[in-house]
Amino acid sequence: MRRGKVLLPFTMPAMPGTVGELRNEIVGLDVRVPVLGGGERPYIFLDNAASTPSFLRVLRCLEAFMPWYSGVHRGTGFKSLLATEAFDAAHTMVGRFVGADPSYHTVIFVKNTTECVNKLANRMGFRPGDVVVTTLLEHHSNDLPWRRHAAVAHAAMLSDGRLDLADLRRLLAVHAGRVRVVAVAGATNITGLCPPVREIARWAHEAGALIVVDAAQLAAHRTISMGDPDDPSHIDFLALSAHKMYAPYGTGALIGPKAFFEAGDPDAVGGGVVEVVTRDRAFWNHPPQKEEAGSPNVTGGIAMAEAAAVLQAVGLEAIEEHEAGLLAYAFDRLTRIPGIRLYGPTRDLSDKVGVITFNLEGFHHSLVAAILGVEGAIGVRDGCFCAHPYVKELLGMTTEQDQAHETAVLSGDKSAMPGMVRASVGCYNTWDDIDALVEMLHRIVNREYRGTYLQERSSGAYRAEGFVPSFSPYFPYLDDFAVREKVHS
Ligand SMILES: Cc1ncc(COP(=O)(O)O)c(C=O)c1O
Repeated sequence: MRRGKVLLPFTMPAMPGTVGELRNEIVGLDVRVPVLGGGERPYIFLDNAASTPSFLRVLRCLEAFMPWYSGVHRGTGFKSLLATEAFDAAHTMVGRFVGADPSYHTVIFVKNTTECVNKLANRMGFRPGDVVVTTLLEHHSNDLPWRRHAAVAHAAMLSDGRLDLADLRRLLAVHAGRVRVVAVAGATNITGLCPPVREIARWAHEAGALIVVDAAQLAAHRTISMGDPDDPSHIDFLALSAHKMYAPYGTGALIGPKAFFEAGDPDAVGGGVVEVVTRDRAFWNHPPQKEEAGSPNVTGGIAMAEAAAVLQAVGLEAIEEHEAGLLAYAFDRLTRIPGIRLYGPTRDLSDKVGVITFNLEGFHHSLVAAILGVEGAIGVRDGCFCAHPYVKELLGMTTEQDQAHETAVLSGDKSAMPGMVRASVGCYNTWDDIDALVEMLHRIVNREYRGTYLQERSSGAYRAEGFVPSFSPYFPYLDDFAVREKVHS
């Protein structure tokens, strides 16, 4: 008799073929959440730029994989062989998703985009005097890692939030001969604007530099292609986060030329990265293993690959069209709200993914976000979104104002922290989601919200008086976690 259950009763779910079918693919789409005053409302998720929900097919893929889960590459048992095959294939699938050439590129699984850029900055082998040209539009992840290693020059923003391409070219000329890297967002997380990376790649290559594209906000919204390495407009390095492409299981991917990673030492060393080690020497493995130190996140890599397969099956063009329709509808309705200030372009939205940032005159951004969450059951985000320089520029802050805020924040007071509210759509959002947002914003500007909101000085966040929801009915494991915490404290 067999002991235990080895195989799950499992039927392979059908691959979605249309954008409409993607709605059935969203884990947690139909949840209801508590709201101020009692009762529950269906949750509307408009925070996809931060992290998307999981595709159901990705979750099902992991359920099917978990009975076979095992560490990869050095195990000899069946499970390890299976897991290794799946994990290696996941690299190939993610490469295919971004048009990588398997004979030229390598796909390195890391934690997220932040780790991708840090790895690149560590691995670039900068010399004194080297310059990185980046832009004022970047997420801190595509700015701070470079600052640690090289002089960084930021191309300016135009008055509508777009990248000032002339300024970028000016910087390339000013620093001619010293620019090693041009680092640019494929889409910004503040305005959703997509700089013309192909054109920028050509300029970078003309200047003798490599181009790094932060595709964290782009990957789930637009087709990306590394391009032919012989074409001057090709992309050298691409960074992605799976949690922004419907696979929030802890993985990101860095794609770049194999030859680049064959050279030099890996940035992190330990298990997995070596072919052979003696008492005083180590000989490195080939990429990607050379760059994936320690036991890799096998589950995360498989999840990312499956999410990429779903996005490709539906087609990024179809997703782009759907999201462009949502964006146009949203801007049409939002621009009619009295006292709203929208950041970035409001008319020509063609080079923009579904990120909408705004403020309501007379309302702190954090108050608006709190009311949307607590009364409207709408998940958004507020603040400076890890892109402080860009946000402050869009807000038109002066250097003096910036310094005053810096002093206040460093003294523990975030109550006047500058910021915006951000609503961001994904492939599954609908016109109804936009309507719900717009309706709540009208209620806010008309001061028809019901709660009393108090601001916390240290975080700047607003909390509704008397709204203290219990989370464990929604996620019962929390009780278990709380018990463990008590036992260990
Ligand atoms: C444009 C952009 N780049 C980089 C990142 C960093 O991504 P991660 O937090 O997954 O490292 C983000 C995250 O919001 C982003 O929006």
